[in-house]
Amino acid sequence: MEANTYAHLKVRLAATPCTWLVTGVAGFIGSNLLETLLRLDQRVVGLDNFSTGHRRNLCEVEALVSPRQWAKFQFIEGDIRTLEHCRSAMLFREPQRKGAAVDVYPVDFVLHQAALGSVPRSLEDPISTHSVNISGFLNMLVAARDAQVKTFVYAASSSTYGDYPGLPKVEENIGKPLSPYAVTKYANELYADVFARCYGVHAVGLRYFNVFGPRQDPNGAYAAVIPRWIAALLRRETVYINGDGETSRDFCYVANAVQANLLAAASESQQGDSQVYNIAVGDRTTLSTLFQLLRDGLGPYGIAADTEPVHRAFRAGDVRHSQADIGKAKRLLGYRPTHRIRDGLAEAMHWYVQMHQALDV
Ligand SMILES: NC(=O)c1ccc[n+]([C@@H]2O[C@H](COP(=O)([O-])OP(=O)(O)OC[C@H]3O[C@@H](n4cnc5c(N)ncnc54)[C@H](O)[C@@H]3O)[C@@H](O)[C@H]2O)c1
Repeated sequence: MEANTYAHLKVRLAATPCTWLVTGVAGFIGSNLLETLLRLDQRVVGLDNFSTGHRRNLCEVEALVSPRQWAKFQFIEGDIRTLEHCRSAMLFREPQRKGAAVDVYPVDFVLHQAALGSVPRSLEDPISTHSVNISGFLNMLVAARDAQVKTFVYAASSSTYGDYPGLPKVEENIGKPLSPYAVTKYANELYADVFARCYGVHAVGLRYFNVFGPRQDPNGAYAAVIPRWIAALLRRETVYINGDGETSRDFCYVANAVQANLLAAASESQQGDSQVYNIAVGDRTTLSTLFQLLRDGLGPYGIAADTEPVHRAFRAGDVRHSQADIGKAKRLLGYRPTHRIRDGLAEAMHWYVQMHQALDV
């Protein structure tokens, strides 16, 4: 596939708008998908119950796009655990203008992001994680099948590699799950595969590896490491590293994940076809290095210059090392990550600082 596939796709979409459903649209990745799709003049239905997402993320996107683009967004406050909510999200209804008939567009592509993330949350409350991530997922698959969408793209996870020791991770070699969350994400892949075989749903799973960027929640007990550490540094609180600091991750800037979703939606389908792809950069950064990068990135803001982290025990359920082989996504989707960890942090740092000022005053 050509190196500029994504650029071509964006031109094609802008010229011929499609209709998209983004679940989890008020969350981190969902709101970034929304922003990109609206900037490309697409019609977007968004579904969210605000359990971990925020209205402020939607407001932020509204401020970043034009009023004409924002008018192409229809939001449904609903829960994927309710099948009727999933079904009603499969149609975009144009806002009614005086005297004109309401135009209705069936959804072409689903980008299913809604889920309860976080390994520790799933260890504390496996039942909630199961019901949203598995029963809710199944509802979405059924609704997408019945609405005959062109492609069902869904957020899978690198946690599916579980205890498989090999690096980098290649899609076909997985180990045993290490947490209830990992079980749910693997179950998603199994269901997607079965819906492809039995009902012809074109399903594409994206195994995200530690995505980060603007609108990722810095607060709460289950915040991801990058926004949590930046928030701690900005508040001049202690940063804790779980373990010796040599634990490593393939940190993936959200623009790369957005690219993968659009490419996956547009990917060629064959009857009974379901695929999963690693979505990351192919790099590996230790937690100690990450801490230094964050400290350096906050230097220009006059923060954190001589702070040192405090080490504590390893966290249950965490895998030790994670690094993706992104060859399959490159070959079959034309995926070309545009941001390595330093590029992503440089682009997002201003947002983290602004968000801290907005939330902490
Ligand atoms: N962020 C990462 O590093 C990462 C890594 C691997 C996989 N994922 C997956 O990517 C997806 C998006 O993650 P995120 O980081 O944007 O998380 P997020 O918590 O910011 O977004 C999830 C969104 O789903 C919504 N939601 C949750 N339960 C719902 C329900 N029952 N009905 C409707 N909406 C519901 C939440 O309100 C939230 O807005 C999730 O499926 C997650 O498991 C994320």
